[in-house]
Amino acid sequence: MARSSSDLHGRRWWRSPAARILAGVASVAATAAVLVTAPGADAAASTLGAAAAQSGRYFGTAIAGGRLGDSAYTTIAAREFNMVTAENEMKPDATEPNQNQFNFSAGDQIYNWAVSRGLRVRGHTLAWHAQQPGWMQNMNGSALRSAMINHIQKVMAHYQGKLAHWDVVNEAFNEDGSRRSSNLQGTGNDWIEVAFRTARAADPSVKLCYNDYNIDNWNYGKTQGVYNMVRDFKARGVPIDCVGLQAHFTGGSSVPSNFQTTISSFAALGVDVALTEVDVTNASTSQYTALTQACLNVARCVGITVWGVRDSDSWRSGERPLLFDGNGNKKAAYNSVLNALNAGSPTTTPTTPTTPTTPGGGGCTATLSAGQAWSDRYNLNVSVSGSSTWTVTMSVPSPARISATWNVNGTWPSSQVLVAKPNGNGSNWGVTIQHNGNWNWPSVSCSAS
Ligand code: XIL
Repeated sequence: MARSSSDLHGRRWWRSPAARILAGVASVAATAAVLVTAPGADAAASTLGAAAAQSGRYFGTAIAGGRLGDSAYTTIAAREFNMVTAENEMKPDATEPNQNQFNFSAGDQIYNWAVSRGLRVRGHTLAWHAQQPGWMQNMNGSALRSAMINHIQKVMAHYQGKLAHWDVVNEAFNEDGSRRSSNLQGTGNDWIEVAFRTARAADPSVKLCYNDYNIDNWNYGKTQGVYNMVRDFKARGVPIDCVGLQAHFTGGSSVPSNFQTTISSFAALGVDVALTEVDVTNASTSQYTALTQACLNVARCVGITVWGVRDSDSWRSGERPLLFDGNGNKKAAYNSVLNALNAGSPTTTPTTPTTPTTPGGGGCTATLSAGQAWSDRYNLNVSVSGSSTWTVTMSVPSPARISATWNVNGTWPSSQVLVAKPNGNGSNWGVTIQHNGNWNWPSVSCSAS
């Protein structure tokens, strides 16, 4: 009867009806087996990927094609991770070395290595100012616009239906939140939305992401610039599904105290968020714990990818920023991340189709944004605009219940409906929702009197 956790890939098999029956049989046969398999006895997962999977997330790494012959490297990578990003092999200079002549051999090598071991793949990246092939670097204007569209179409056609995410556009903003000048930007300010619309048409099955660095601090100009673009895209129906925070906490930067606010604010726009290229100077355990916890606390933070396997594999190897040392040993930061993932709360995969803004018929608007989330409940912040004498009616989907409110006068026509009015203290308030397995956000309507 005894089953080790390693042959179960961290999946909570005892939650299935069959497993419960097996556990019941075991309780007759041998008491010891019941201790191992009792429902709710949360065995800690022993790899990063399995630990992240407990809350429906992934844990990934960048893979360099040139290292796939190194068995120490591939052994760790295949054991620990369940998502892969090609470090360089799917970038424009690799996939289209000559105009309209495509070469997928290096990208496919990584793709095939990953999927044959049960790992999924993020595509990185289609439109970027850096790592362009020489012919593209020398191009501008309408010729470059056409070449960008052709590149997206051809590369996405090759990987059609195969990838989890594509970083459609990478690093298009300056530190102050303005657009970075580049040959792509020179083709017109709409180049980013053209890239996303082209991508959606080329492969409707893959999630389309915008990816950037230094968008971790909520108060930073660049973060706000990217946030405003994503908000604008969602408002105008430009197809975007996810935002990647590279989260390079190397080269002089560190995890900001408001990191979780940044993640939850992007998520509240109705996009998934991922930490896509994580590394941390000297692999600070407190910073690795903090960034992992911040992701776990936001339902729509779907996964974390570290930018390499061992310190010696890192693009910033001098800062020893990864979870394994050059000999492939687990570092202290590895244990910090694994423990945080194992303690991480939601055992149900959160599905949160967000309805952030519901304009009221009555001259006011209630906007919802994500607050903290725990295993059994989550907070929503509500901000009302357009009137100071509002009434907001909120209905939570069964079997969820509103268990607390703050800064608002509430009445309860039924256990799942809250009628909220101002309590004299402004128009920002909130609710705690006991999800009872249903993570869908409530519907709201607003009327002014
Ligand atoms: C880096 C790779 O790690 C290096 O091997 C390469 O020489 C340069 O690019 N942001 C990104 C990644 O989106 O693609 C970059 O990867 C690191 C910064």
